[in-house]
Amino acid sequence: MSEKSVAIVGATGAVGIEFIQVMEKLNFPVSKLKLLASKRSAGKKLKFRGEDCIVEETSHDSFKNVDIALFSAGSPISRHYADIVKESGCVMIDNSSAFRMEPDVPLVIPEINPEDANNHHGIISNPNCSTIIMLMAVYPIYKKYRVKRIVLSTYQAASGAGWEAMEELRKASLAHLNNEPFEQKIMPHPYAFNLFSHNSKMLENGYNEEEMKTFKETRKILHDSTINITATCVRVPVFRAHSESINLEFVEMAPSVEECRTLLANFPGVQVVDDRQNNTFPMPLDASGKYECLVGRIRKDESLPEKAINLFVCGDQLLKGAALNAVQIALLLV
Ligand SMILES: NC(=O)c1ccc[n+]([C@@H]2O[C@H](COP(=O)([O-])OP(=O)(O)OC[C@H]3O[C@@H](n4cnc5c(N)ncnc54)[C@H](OP(=O)(O)O)[C@@H]3O)[C@@H](O)[C@H]2O)c1
Repeated sequence: MSEKSVAIVGATGAVGIEFIQVMEKLNFPVSKLKLLASKRSAGKKLKFRGEDCIVEETSHDSFKNVDIALFSAGSPISRHYADIVKESGCVMIDNSSAFRMEPDVPLVIPEINPEDANNHHGIISNPNCSTIIMLMAVYPIYKKYRVKRIVLSTYQAASGAGWEAMEELRKASLAHLNNEPFEQKIMPHPYAFNLFSHNSKMLENGYNEEEMKTFKETRKILHDSTINITATCVRVPVFRAHSESINLEFVEMAPSVEECRTLLANFPGVQVVDDRQNNTFPMPLDASGKYECLVGRIRKDESLPEKAINLFVCGDQLLKGAALNAVQIALLLV
């Protein structure tokens, strides 16, 4: 593997910090690492392989002699720097939603469609976190048995909205327990001991953006324009790791529960947690910090036993839903 010069834009954020740790853990061949953020963080020190790295303010000159730029600072920043990154001969791996649906931008989950990464024109997008975690549970079965429709319900953690949302959940929870007033600034509704419809933009069809992303991105990743998804995305007061309930309806007969368990257990990046005897199934606390997505509650859908099954998945969206998936994409380029 050839060593690459890598820049991380948004290095001080919830995802950015994970980028650094994942690159260390996966022993990514780095010749030079540049940590970039906003002016606010310039001069901060972060550790990489035991050594201090100074965070720099992102500028138009930041991408000279950089091979791979991992972006995780929001869509406006990705859009602002995209042309500059490409002109520098650097490949952008973007965590934001800015380019995901553009036809010449591959949308990649390395366990599922790694070959798409070869068709990039300077940008590769990382899919939405809920989409990645759902597809890690669906694809091992889908690969063998064609799926007609997915009914998805998500239980999404605060970390999906960054550091500030996690901090707000912590403070709101303390205030709630102490019977003190608390003013929400990041989330639109009281978050402690509550849940609410996902805080992305509401669209004219009554779905929110997060829900529509799972539908559109799945079709693109699977190259399947026939698969249908109806999603309900909800924020729950969990710090880290999303949970998702999935109902899969097949074109032909549904596979047996045993077959699904075997397919899932043999798929890289998936761990089956399906202990009916002890009522132990995937939980966000267990998925937090893990590279694998945990899948369980594998059962026939009793309302459509010949055709449908149910699954439950928990995945750390800062890792497989963001940083880990992006670093895995970068590894495809070395
Ligand atoms: N959280 C997730 O699970 C997740 C999953 C998938 C995708 N994403 C996407 O990843 C992005 C970041 O998410 P996050 O959760 O890590 O957010 P976050 O914790 O709020 O971090 C945001 C990062 O962006 C940097 N930033 C802000 N303005 C900047 C500017 N003008 N120039 C350069 N850097 C700037 C911040 O730097 P300062 O510290 O200097 O402010 C910080 O490092 C978003 O696009 C999000 O949609 C997040």
